Amino acid sequence: MSVLRSVVLGCGSYLPARVVTNHELAKAVETSDEWIVQRTGIHERRIAATGELTSDMAVHAAKAALAAAKIEADSIDLIVLATSTPDQTFPASAVSVQAQLGIHHGAAFDLQAVCSGFVFGLATADSMLRSGSFKRALVIGSETFSRILDWNDRTTCVLFGDGAGAVVLDLQEQPGTREDRGVLTTHLRSDGRHKGKLYVDGGPSSTQTVGHLRMEGREVFRHAVSMITDVVVDAFKATGYSAADIDWFVPHQANRRIIDASAHKLGIAPEKIVATVDRHGNTSAASIPLALADAVADRRIKRGDLVLLEAMGGGFTWGAALVRW
Ligand code: ACO
Repeated sequence: MSVLRSVVLGCGSYLPARVVTNHELAKAVETSDEWIVQRTGIHERRIAATGELTSDMAVHAAKAALAAAKIEADSIDLIVLATSTPDQTFPASAVSVQAQLGIHHGAAFDLQAVCSGFVFGLATADSMLRSGSFKRALVIGSETFSRILDWNDRTTCVLFGDGAGAVVLDLQEQPGTREDRGVLTTHLRSDGRHKGKLYVDGGPSSTQTVGHLRMEGREVFRHAVSMITDVVVDAFKATGYSAADIDWFVPHQANRRIIDASAHKLGIAPEKIVATVDRHGNTSAASIPLALADAVADRRIKRGDLVLLEAMGGGFTWGAALVRW
């Protein structure tokens, strides 16, 4: 029996031009390339130019995804922009993206689940497409975390970077077999008891300021691997797939040690891991689509491949998705 699925038509990404190496950071705060590489796997990150907004980067990534999908912008009727660093408190940065793409129909909104934002966005868009309300969606992750970092705090400022990535999802009938393409399952979780472990100490309602990112790094690390692996196991149970069936593991790029430990615990072979954290740092909601675009561009991810996505972030929020490309 045929089923409706959200099939990925294309993906794209954008990185700001400015590269900031660990060595450059070590001139500003008491840190070293060796410490950062050993603890995180990060060598460099990109930082947005003055005046370069989250929506600007999202538009670049969206245009790249539309070009890869070989479709016109006006065939998109849904834009979900995952970000924790919107241009303004409101309106949603997604409507700026919509306007810059020349789209005047359908709906566009921001979604905030911090580093899990892209997985939450993918799940949301997938549900909205399959409910019959929309036909074709752009799911974008775009972040300017450089604007909410405390550049005097070496425990956080070395970890993050800026960038954007996007995918186009198209509602299509699939045969209802194990060869089906598209989003096969999504699993989302949150637990607000952990909200004080990774947060921004400002906001319109509380301080009327933007605030800075604060994190208990060790506490985040302690929970990350078990939360990630639990939700991935849920995705396996829901589909009947196992680690051996996965062609590519595209995790949120927070820290190479978390990525490797999660893959190891799940039994995913190291050569199936797509990692960009060395070059991008942690770009929060943008990290998964940035990594996807990388692996599609160099022809690692190909049509028909089974791709596992997962993320964990502030809240805590966490989630996983299985997608047949
Ligand atoms: N350079 C040099 N020394 C540093 C730095 C730095 N940039 N940052 C901290 N240190 C020092 C600390 O002050 C501490 O010194 P002390 O022992 O004299 O007190 C020492 O290094 C060890 O600090 P820890 O915090 O214990 O270091 P740890 O090995 O835990 O590594 C890290 C820190 C990298 C943050 C790690 O805890 C981690 O990766 N946590 C997860 C963080 C993360 O991934 N967050 C994002 C996930 S969610 C999301 O994406 C939003």
